[in-house]
Amino acid sequence: MVKTMTKLIHVILIFSLAYVVRSDRTLNTFKILHASGPEAIAFDLTGQGPYTGVSDGRVLKYEGPGIGFVEFAHASPLRTKEKCDGTDDPNLGPICGRPFGVGFNYRTGELYIADAFFGLCKVGPDGGLAEQLATSAEGGPFKWLDGLDVDSTTEMVYFTDISTKYTFRELPQALSSGDSTGRLMSYNPKTKEVQVLLSGLQIPGGTGVSRDGSFVLVSEYTGHRILKYWLKGPKANTAEAILSIHRPDNIKRTLLGDFWIGANIIMQQPAPNTIPQGVRINESGKVLETINLDGIFRNETIAEVQEFAGSYYVVSIRRNSVGICKCFVEENGRKLLGIRYDWIKENCS
Ligand SMILES: *[C@@H]1O[C@H](CO)[C@@H](O)[C@H](O)[C@H]1NC(C)=O
Ligand SMILES: *[C@@H]1O[C@H](CO)[C@@H](O)[C@H](O)[C@H]1NC(C)=O
Repeated sequence: MVKTMTKLIHVILIFSLAYVVRSDRTLNTFKILHASGPEAIAFDLTGQGPYTGVSDGRVLKYEGPGIGFVEFAHASPLRTKEKCDGTDDPNLGPICGRPFGVGFNYRTGELYIADAFFGLCKVGPDGGLAEQLATSAEGGPFKWLDGLDVDSTTEMVYFTDISTKYTFRELPQALSSGDSTGRLMSYNPKTKEVQVLLSGLQIPGGTGVSRDGSFVLVSEYTGHRILKYWLKGPKANTAEAILSIHRPDNIKRTLLGDFWIGANIIMQQPAPNTIPQGVRINESGKVLETINLDGIFRNETIAEVQEFAGSYYVVSIRRNSVGICKCFVEENGRKLLGIRYDWIKENCS
């Protein structure tokens, strides 16, 4: 009897939770203005944002529900509003720029940008045209910078170059060719030195540095794994694979030191389909939590899941739809992901 009661209570709990998740009582969502294709987000020192790079070359800043996204910065000195605003044509990238990875140095308030066409750049707290810091490393010019993270303690910047063969304009070839010329690099703002930490990577989409700065993680999108590169300690300058995972993209550290990975299971059978997932791992690569996002993003890939101030942010680069969502419901003080696809379609096209 007691057992049955307990079971019953469990069932009720599960149902009420499901109900809460589906209600849009505290549902909140962000919209991209006149542009599409956000790939990564960052929050500034005072918790404002998110900031995100979009496909027309701008970095936008979210200014709150009444205002939405406003223009903040861009990396291309050639960019004109007439030619670029609102475009999602990759062929205009060499003129408009294409910011992917974004991350703040919390000591200086500067925003670092990994731009696919203009290399590693940074911009001050007032935004505007970013300063170009590096466009090449040992072994050649950057073809397509993508992932980025800043260690605000040491001020070191970690970033990825997807390939030394393909640019963003050759995305399909880069994905289908089995390319393994990607690199993980670091930039030291004190010496302005760019260092190649790892080469021979298979489409390294994201990177995240550990809380104590002893290692950096890098994802291999087509290599289906997460590598850990040691920066300090007995294993310094060596790498090891810590997790096999389908199509991992950006890696974002949580306050506690875990990492969220935006990942995508791509299936061919019975029909082609993508299941986007947020996967949280600890520093050893042990999976702690997996959230399936197919109820929300259906058959679309996601690039990033980020936890900030108790909420989840999911970033999808897909076109003509919302890119960033801050969508949650409160449940016992914890904010749970609960975004409804149809709601997004209606409100954020
Ligand atoms: C998912 O998208 C792919 C590519 O656009 C398409 O071929 C496939 O039919 C879609 N699958 C489903 C289940 O909608
Ligand atoms: C990660 O989780 C595993 C399994 O719970 C545990 O053995 C390991 O110590 C954890 N690693 C860290 C760095 O917390």
